[in-house]
Amino acid sequence: MQKAIAVTDSIYWIGGNDRETDLFEGLWALPRGVAYNAYLICDDKVALVDSIKSSNFSDYTDRLYSVIGDEKIIDYLIVDHMEPDHSGSIRMLRQIYPNLKIVGNKKTLEMIEAFYGITEGTIEVKEGDVLDLGHHKLTFAMIPMVHWPESMVTYDMTDKVLFSTDAFGGFSALEGGIFDDELDMNHFENETLRYFANIVGRYAAPTQKAIQKVRSLDLKIICPAHGPIHRANPCHIVDLYDKWSSHVTDEGVVVVYGSMYGNTKLMSDAIARSIAEQGIQDVIIHDVSRSNLSFIVRDVWKYTGLVLCSCTYNMELYPPMATLCRTLKNKMMKSRVLGLSGSYSWSKGALAELQVFAQQSGDWNLVGPAVEVKSAPTEEDILQCRELGKNVALAVKEKTKERQKNQQTA
Ligand code: FEO
Repeated sequence: MQKAIAVTDSIYWIGGNDRETDLFEGLWALPRGVAYNAYLICDDKVALVDSIKSSNFSDYTDRLYSVIGDEKIIDYLIVDHMEPDHSGSIRMLRQIYPNLKIVGNKKTLEMIEAFYGITEGTIEVKEGDVLDLGHHKLTFAMIPMVHWPESMVTYDMTDKVLFSTDAFGGFSALEGGIFDDELDMNHFENETLRYFANIVGRYAAPTQKAIQKVRSLDLKIICPAHGPIHRANPCHIVDLYDKWSSHVTDEGVVVVYGSMYGNTKLMSDAIARSIAEQGIQDVIIHDVSRSNLSFIVRDVWKYTGLVLCSCTYNMELYPPMATLCRTLKNKMMKSRVLGLSGSYSWSKGALAELQVFAQQSGDWNLVGPAVEVKSAPTEEDILQCRELGKNVALAVKEKTKERQKNQQTA
């Protein structure tokens, strides 16, 4: 039987770890799983903060019963976010607790009807409303588009605990520990960035607005819907989300190649070597056919520079590279340095499509030369690749200097 874990003397973690789902949202790899966090607040009135993905319902109920037994005493289910990784058990919970009042904002309640056909026994809350549980006073703040339009956070004014839904969350199942001071936070910060970049990053501007609200709160503990609970250093995860959603990058270059028979890979190796010779230590190479998209997106979000090297396939951009470009465009990252190279054998296509991608990438700084190679790179082509690598590295270093200057004057 699963047991609840105390967060405070009256708040409990009743979430579950999913190590069976291979792809989050059917898209993003989960090599070490994902946690669906949910919480129980015991007071004169008893409240649940979020339900759980339906596949993990027994984890949730086991942990819930370990605190309250089989008494039918749940008063409220607060629904901070309707994506089914958190709302998937609402109907099953209602069957166990028919008098349970479902608390959500207007958009949440519309979605509950659309997803689950539930219209009765709901309480609509607005920004700043207070739900009084007795000792605990809960208030609500809307954070639309972090990650869906109805997303909101619940703040326990009594214990100064923020239930932050997807905000400040990350991939990876929880491994024994559930708190930041119990876990290998290097691993979890990498997985949090991968989650941010792929799930929340598209909504960087709304995330910035949410962070403004969160920074106004007196915070002791942040309880997100995924990843570790932050009690040792709750400000740190807010700072990280602030950095990532402000498009502040680290010095480094991601080189992504798409190659069928190794010739485009040769080009990417020459580019990467030239970047390293300029003193850039973080050079990450991805084979677009083999790296899961989520890891490439994470690294592109992290680093200032990106070089794309692609072969042509059926007179078009190599299909996995086209998918990457479409995904990066959707994420709307800002202020990167970009270099491009393409190859072909009998009909051009890849480089021209990469150049269209560059035109659509907002304020990205496109650095030349754009290298185009026929079949296999010649010595002259390799020199061109090295020139591209050098210029990307110099532009990345220039961005680092700008950032350092801005930090000094801030
Ligand atoms: Fe974890 Fe947007 O759901």
